[in-house]
Amino acid sequence: MASTTFHKRAITAGIAALVLGLSACAGGDGDSTGDSTGDSGGGGGDLISVGFAQVGAESGWRTANTTSIKDALTQENGFDLKFSDAQQKQENQIQAIRSYIAQGVDYIAFSPVVESGWDAVLEEAKTANIPVILTDRAVDTEDESLYVTFIGSDFVEEGRRIGAYVSETLATEPIKVVELQGTTGSAPAIDRKTGFEEATADNPNVEIIASQTGNFTRAEGKTVMEGFLQAYPDIDVVYAHNDDMGLGAIEAIEAAGKVPGQDIKVVTIDGVKDGMQALADGKITYIVECNPLLGPDLADIIKTLDEGGTVEKRIVTKDEEFDQEAAIAALPDRQY
Ligand code: AHR
Repeated sequence: MASTTFHKRAITAGIAALVLGLSACAGGDGDSTGDSTGDSGGGGGDLISVGFAQVGAESGWRTANTTSIKDALTQENGFDLKFSDAQQKQENQIQAIRSYIAQGVDYIAFSPVVESGWDAVLEEAKTANIPVILTDRAVDTEDESLYVTFIGSDFVEEGRRIGAYVSETLATEPIKVVELQGTTGSAPAIDRKTGFEEATADNPNVEIIASQTGNFTRAEGKTVMEGFLQAYPDIDVVYAHNDDMGLGAIEAIEAAGKVPGQDIKVVTIDGVKDGMQALADGKITYIVECNPLLGPDLADIIKTLDEGGTVEKRIVTKDEEFDQEAAIAALPDRQY
């Protein structure tokens, strides 16, 4: 697929040159603006055109991820980036991908809002001979030829690591856990739940008493936690699928007159600055990192493919984990 793409770009450039030559012969005005903004093959001159369909701006993690992608896929680095924000709606993402196909971009990259329902639009990209790269989140498909590679964290492992911490450190006696899930149907929500349940399954001290989505946002995390606090007066631990929902839960806990980190422990996934600060302050008890800095690797993948090289089908990014002491040490150099 990579070499096919390379040929497509080369052929497109040839056609563009031919068209420019013809207009010059016909006594055109010499305005060759057509190749500077992505009209030929969706690319500007020698730039590689990439359509990136982002999930939205739901969390600190997502903001850091967007910055990383925009900083890496710059014109100086050889890219013509077209970026769209789907506001956490699958239909918006599908529309953005169709628009990139219509523009004839060289590559499409996206982080799918939810796992299922992508086959039709990915078939369209395949028919148009545009390689698709999945970043951050996976799609649920039986046809792996619909994308070139998937780069991102292992979400099941993140859930397992948080679950292992809860089981080994917090559940030495019976505890009641409430779970704030990510966006319903998204890969991280499904996988982080699976991993946590797997890691705590053998410990009868861990009881998950309630589980509800907070859609990965601080506001919804707070609202759901308010409901949990009213319904369950004896919560010991909040497992939030991301920092933002954990931070929303902390606001609800404090508003209810309880002390986060003491009366109720909060464990989260991501490791963005706000989350790390709450961990350093003792309000969050443990964080498993999910690295959002995928831009440089995405740029490398595209350049490799564009030169006719191949990449692994699955590229797993490295994540760390933090307790209070580790957060205090990491915060001064934290990039996001
Ligand atoms: O897909 C990654 C997840 O999406 C992050 O953990 C969460 O913060 C974001 O919204």
